Amino acid sequence: MDQTRISLRPFNLSDADDFFSWAKDERVTQYLRWHTITTREEALKYLKEVAIPHPWRRSICIDDRSIGYVSIKPESGSDRHRAHVGYAVAAEYWGQGIVTVALKLAVVRVFEEFPYLVRLEALVEEENKGSQRVLEKVGFQKEGFLRKYGFNKGQIRDMFIYSFLSTDKAM
Ligand SMILES: CC(C)(COP(=O)(O)OP(=O)(O)OC[C@H]1O[C@@H](n2cnc3c(N)ncnc32)[C@H](O)[C@@H]1OP(=O)(O)O)[C@@H](O)C(=O)NCCC(=O)NCCS
Repeated sequence: MDQTRISLRPFNLSDADDFFSWAKDERVTQYLRWHTITTREEALKYLKEVAIPHPWRRSICIDDRSIGYVSIKPESGSDRHRAHVGYAVAAEYWGQGIVTVALKLAVVRVFEEFPYLVRLEALVEEENKGSQRVLEKVGFQKEGFLRKYGFNKGQIRDMFIYSFLSTDKAM
């Protein structure tokens, strides 16, 4: 993948078809907190009510076509120095280094756009080795193993926690 084809931009309602094409795929949503999208109308509603108003959710694009997302959500109040990171890309694009590039871009941008942000953190299910590898390639540090921490798709899951500080260097 030529990295210059990869970009991040806010979602638009016109992304509905592209978004639906991967948001309906359970291989993609199995580790995500949100449910698999089942209709185009639901995809449009999700874009309108969740993705577009989100504080910082960007569409990962190839040649400006939406193929995934990266989102960084700061906590509120006195915890606003800390933000949660999430991402996904359509299964046909897995293993081409796309999310690694997208997350590196995102990390640089959010620290510029939210000057009060100090720490990014990501929680990853134990078996999601691809996601752990992405975080390690970007320069996140693995901080620990959280037993029976997350609840997702009907199950309580063991998770790893990773962080990246504003003073850390992306790799
Ligand atoms: C996890 C995910 C984001 C990775 O995106 P991607 O664009 O394929 O990631 P990259 O190609 O940049 O890097 C993936 C790395 O993981 C490695 N990997 C993938 N599956 C693996 C596995 N089962 N075991 C070990 N390593 C694995 C790849 O070899 C690659 O590492 P390398 O570059 O050293 O070879 C993507 O698979 C996805 O969208 N999954 C569904 C949603 C999801 O899990 N989101 C994260 C929730 S925490």
